[in-house]
Amino acid sequence: MKLWGGRFSKNTDSEVNDFNSSIRFDGRMYAQDIRGSIAHAKMLGKCGVISESDSATLVKTLGEVLEDIENGKVEFSADAEDIHMNVETLLIQRIGDIGKRLHTGRSRNDQVALDIKMYLMDEEKELSLLLKSLLECLISMAEEHTQTIMPGYTHLQKAQPITLSHHLMAYFEMFKRDCTRLADWRERTNVMPLGSGALAGTTYPFDRQYVADQLGFASITLNSLDGVSDRDYVIELSGILSIIMVHLSRFSEELILWNTNEFSFVEMDDACSTGSSIMPQKKNPDVAELIRGKSGRVFGDLMSILTTMKGLPLAYNKDMQEDKECIFDAIDTVKLCLPVFTKMIRTMKINKENMEQGAKGGFTNATDAADYLVKKGMPFRQAHEVVGKMVAYALNVGKSLDEFTMEEFKQCSDIIEDDIYHAIDLHTCVSDRKIIGGPAREAVEYAIGINKKWLSEQ
Ligand code: ARG
Repeated sequence: MKLWGGRFSKNTDSEVNDFNSSIRFDGRMYAQDIRGSIAHAKMLGKCGVISESDSATLVKTLGEVLEDIENGKVEFSADAEDIHMNVETLLIQRIGDIGKRLHTGRSRNDQVALDIKMYLMDEEKELSLLLKSLLECLISMAEEHTQTIMPGYTHLQKAQPITLSHHLMAYFEMFKRDCTRLADWRERTNVMPLGSGALAGTTYPFDRQYVADQLGFASITLNSLDGVSDRDYVIELSGILSIIMVHLSRFSEELILWNTNEFSFVEMDDACSTGSSIMPQKKNPDVAELIRGKSGRVFGDLMSILTTMKGLPLAYNKDMQEDKECIFDAIDTVKLCLPVFTKMIRTMKINKENMEQGAKGGFTNATDAADYLVKKGMPFRQAHEVVGKMVAYALNVGKSLDEFTMEEFKQCSDIIEDDIYHAIDLHTCVSDRKIIGGPAREAVEYAIGINKKWLSEQ
C-alpha cells in the first residue's frame, strides 16, 4: 500500500513503479533525510502541532532507524519510491499511528530540497578538504623549486623562461579560487527550505527558524515556491566541480606532455603509472589521462542538470528527481580525482636539468634582448625588429643569442655592449622579473608567503 494510495483504485504498474522509484540513488541521503525529520518532529512538538510525547517517540525511533540503516540492518524497497517514503514507512512499521504524524505540514517537495541541500553541504566540506591537501602539496613543491628554471609556453611554443615554482603557483591560484567558489556557494546554499510545503507553505504555526537552528542553517527561505522549485545550488555546484575538472585536466595534459620522452621534464612514479599489455617498454601516465578524460563526464553532468531545469514551470516537477544522479556522479568523480592527482604530483620525479635545458632552446630570451635595447634608448617597436632579425640570423647560423660574438651583436646594433651577455642570460631573464606576479624568486616567494597565510586560515 502506497503512503499516497488513498485516491487510487489500482496498484501501480510494476514497470511504472520501478521507473518512478529513485531509492537506488537517493538512498545515499538517508542520514540527511533523518536529520531533517528529527528537526521537523521536534518542531511539531514544540509548536503544539503534535503532542510532546509523540514528538519524543518520533525522534527516538528516527534515531533507531538511522542506526539500523548504518548497521546494514535495513533494506530499502523500490515500492516505497524514494528515501523519504522509505524512512517514513520504516517509522510507521515500528510505531504505527505516531509514525503517521511525522509528515504533518510537510511535503516531499520541501523535504527533498532540504535533504539535497544538506547532502551537498556535507559533501562540500569533504571537497574543500581535498582541495586543501592539493593546495598544500602545490605550495610545498613550489617552495622547493623557486630556482628550477623551465620554459614558459604560449601556443605550446617556447616563450619566456619561468620557474617550476611559478608554474605550480599558477595552478595554486586556480585551485584557490575553486576553494573560495565552494565557500561562496555554501553561503548562498545555506538557507533552509522546510516549511515551503508542497508549494504554498502551510497553515500550521510552524517555527521555521527553530528547524533551521537545529540543522545549523544560516537562515530560512523567504518564498515557498522558490524553496521547492529551485535547483540553482545543484547547477552552481556542478559548475564549480566542472571548473575544478578543467583545472585538473589542463594540469594533467601538461604532465602528460612533460612525462613524454621528448620533454622528459618529469617522470611519473612507477606506483602512479601503468604498463602496456603488449609493449613491454611502456610506462603510461594513465592517471593523468583518466583525470583528463573524466572531466568530460563532469561537464556532461552539468549540461544534464541545466537542460533538465531549463523548461520547468514552477513549482515542483518530477523531472527534478533527475538532478541527483548527475550531481552525485560529479561529486564522486571529483572526489576520486583530487586525491589521486595529488598523490601523482607529489611522487613524480622532477628532471631539473631537462627543464633548464628546455628553457635554453627556442630563443626564450629574445624579449629580454629587445628590452636590453629599449633600456639603451631604442623605441620598443624598433628593438622588436632588430631582435627579430637577430633571431633570423641565429637560425641561419645555428646559434642561440647568447652564443653571438660581440662582433655579431654590433652588426645588429651598435648600441649593444658587453653587458648584453648578462642581460640575456636565462637566470637574469627570470631574476629580473621581480614584478609582483612575476617568476623571480622573490616575487614567487612573496606570493607563496601570502598564500601560505591564506591556507593556514582555511
Ligand atoms: N523523489 C522525489 C525527488 O527526488 C521527491 C519529491 C517527490 N515529490 C512528489 N510530489 N512526487 O524529487
